[in-house]
Amino acid sequence: MKIKVLGSAAGGGFPQWNCNCTNCQSVRAGKPGYRARTQSSIAISDGSENWILVNASPDLLSQIKSTPDLQPNRNPRDSGIAAVILMDAQIDHTTGLLMMRESKTPMRLYTTAAVWEDLTTGLPLVPTLSFYCGVQWTPLTTDPSDGFVISPLDSIRIKSIPLVSKAPPYSPNRYTQRVGDNIGLMIEDLRTGKKVFYAPGLGELTDNIMPFMHEADVLMVDGTFWTEDEMITQGFSKKQAADMGHLPQTDKPNVPGSGMINQLKQFGNKRKVLIHINNTNPILNELGPERAALNAEQIEVSYDGMEILA
Ligand code: MLT
Ligand code: MN
Ligand code: ZN
Repeated sequence: MKIKVLGSAAGGGFPQWNCNCTNCQSVRAGKPGYRARTQSSIAISDGSENWILVNASPDLLSQIKSTPDLQPNRNPRDSGIAAVILMDAQIDHTTGLLMMRESKTPMRLYTTAAVWEDLTTGLPLVPTLSFYCGVQWTPLTTDPSDGFVISPLDSIRIKSIPLVSKAPPYSPNRYTQRVGDNIGLMIEDLRTGKKVFYAPGLGELTDNIMPFMHEADVLMVDGTFWTEDEMITQGFSKKQAADMGHLPQTDKPNVPGSGMINQLKQFGNKRKVLIHINNTNPILNELGPERAALNAEQIEVSYDGMEILA
């Protein structure tokens, strides 16, 4: 399988329109070591012209423009995107759906019931799209023993795995997470047996996801924050990383081993890639000490346009 990183940033992108943090100023100024990023999304292909879009970022149109592979040009109106899977109902993962409204057939959308509920109520993208292309919904189970296949990508099997993270701020479930508000995916190529675990929003490495992470050949996980209190110390928010459903790379104060870098050690030398990087995260400076610390652990930082073959 081939995975294309369409966007590698967290909500807001990099630089964020109204942000003058050190990183955002540096990338705007074209400083060496910084590259701009759009909001997180990946596309999966079986090697054919067909793709599954995982999350629909508000930057979707520019992502499609800079990824010619997504336009196979088989018909006067065409796209390589066969279907869309959503990890959650967050704005940075869903609002790109509105940009696909010109679809000639109902959009094939895969979400859990919890995400569907948010997208039909608090953020009513689905009712809105019914006036355009319409949506053909396939509910995703939260039982990861049920794999599913999305035609025509018949050699890619996907499992949806419930995660601890957060429902969006607009959701009635923001402070009372339900199973299915957030999922990760196990993506398997049935021809090669290779597996990628994908979880751009991951607050905790809970027992239920461990077997999948151990089994995977590639881990693509939450890279939002470097520290638990990054938004607070930089003066942008009162929220800790945990309040937003993200596990930071470094250990939480007084909890040795709790951070993503230390947690990933148990998975040996499989490929480890961070995605959904917030613009405040110092790892965005490719020449800085935080990035060097990741390099030393062989943890990669994804970038827009990155390709992963598995
Ligand atoms: C998050 O994952 O917490 C989001 O990136 C927040 C947002 O989209 O504003
Ligand atoms: Mn996000
Ligand atoms: Zn910033």
